[in-house]
Amino acid sequence: MQYSYGMDDSGTPLYLAVAQDMAALIHSGALKPMERVPSVRLLARQRRVSITTAVASLRELEQRGLIEARPKSGYFVARRRPAPEPPAQVELPRRARLAGTQAILKRLADASLTPGIARLGQALPDPALFPEAALRACLARVARRDPTLLGEYPVRMGGSLALREQIARHYAHVGLALPAEELIITNGCMEALTLAMRVVTAPGDTIVVESPSYFGMLQIAESLGVKVIEIPSHPRDGLHIQALRELLSGKAGRDVRAVAITANFSNPNGSCMPVARKRELVKLCGEFDVVLIEDDVYGDLQFDGARPLPCKAFDRDGRVLLCSSFSKSLAPGARLGFIVPGRYRDMLRAAKHMISGATPLLQQEMLADFLQSGRYERHLRRMRRALSQQVMQLSQCVQDAFPEGTRLTQPEGGFVLWVELPSGIDTLALHEDAVRLGLDYVPGALFSASGRYANCLRLNAGYAVTPATETAIRRLGQLFQSRLAPAPRRAPERTR
Ligand SMILES: Cc1ncc(COP(=O)(O)O)c(C=O)c1O
Repeated sequence: MQYSYGMDDSGTPLYLAVAQDMAALIHSGALKPMERVPSVRLLARQRRVSITTAVASLRELEQRGLIEARPKSGYFVARRRPAPEPPAQVELPRRARLAGTQAILKRLADASLTPGIARLGQALPDPALFPEAALRACLARVARRDPTLLGEYPVRMGGSLALREQIARHYAHVGLALPAEELIITNGCMEALTLAMRVVTAPGDTIVVESPSYFGMLQIAESLGVKVIEIPSHPRDGLHIQALRELLSGKAGRDVRAVAITANFSNPNGSCMPVARKRELVKLCGEFDVVLIEDDVYGDLQFDGARPLPCKAFDRDGRVLLCSSFSKSLAPGARLGFIVPGRYRDMLRAAKHMISGATPLLQQEMLADFLQSGRYERHLRRMRRALSQQVMQLSQCVQDAFPEGTRLTQPEGGFVLWVELPSGIDTLALHEDAVRLGLDYVPGALFSASGRYANCLRLNAGYAVTPATETAIRRLGQLFQSRLAPAPRRAPERTR
């Protein structure tokens, strides 16, 4: 539902600001499950807002599932089940290896084309969440304004200056100053990551990845003949800095050229590194002269509070290569990403020229036009709310339907859930059976170069949770349950 109410000092609608403060009280435990929340009148008085604003705030909290209305009694904090157990940390090998993911990825892509399959596999939001009509209008406007966009060969390797300026402006609001002229627009984030890894490594080199790690990163490393070492990532705080320090200090650390991570809402475990840890990571990379390749595609999709800073904000010597795209947040079909090249600007431009040439300009001008209009923030606010609700609802379906002992993440941004099933279930081996049943997910093994996470899976919460989703999750739960060895029967006790 859309409300049009006043704004607070930061430009957030008042009803949302009030709802966010209340949500923080609930998350922190200051307001306990089943406790009464202030009535509309009291809330309006306490916060000095109108009755309509107070009603809108409470409705917002209700929509997010944080409070529930009881007839004639008012609103109460929702009866929340205990937070699910986060997935456990696993032992990881210290030896560098090639990743080996290509064949499995092909099968996954084929599965996603199956008609009618529940969209629980690929990490994609529902197209209905994007401002498609507004983008179409921008596209028509820029095509009319500049007919040369299609008729002339794009020659600027950096891409549209208008778009680069808008990206720099967006990050300036986040608290990160970027020189617009240095940005390079790419074909999605994958091209940005590929270019980054290509210029900082040579075949046989090693990079460090967080574990579990986005499989695209493992795929790129594999295609470049680069070995990877996995360092554990905690589902809340991300990469284990001490483990990285130990690795870099030892013999295996000598071949490491780069660390590649998604510091903000990592895919798949949703972790978001606290600011102090980001600062420490950048410092550590400096100490050991290692490049940091940072993937920020989910950075704009936090559920509450301020947009998290990227590690790039702590970069003092151009060693952080910030890569991102609009694929998750605005327009997946535009295939537009970018890289902030730091000290590798010339090498990256040359590599971009050689590999794919300049990125097509028409979509770039379309996005620049949309961003210029100031509508991106408004769109993000809506999208964040929808994603936060979807993630919570999907998480509840999983808790209801998956076998006893299942653990899962509670991400605070992005839209994927990382699920750990009881050991003994092999999600990769079961994937074909699942697809045959019209069900999809991404098997955990894809997120590791060393065959870890066989009993894990990633679920996409990018789509609204419908009765069809609930059925799909229930059937997945039954499939997993059917592969669990029945509990051994107790031998009858002998009497002496
Ligand atoms: C962490 C991460 N990085 C990069 C990408 C790829 O982005 P793009 O589609 O813009 O190439 C994805 C897509 O799933 C992702 O999850």
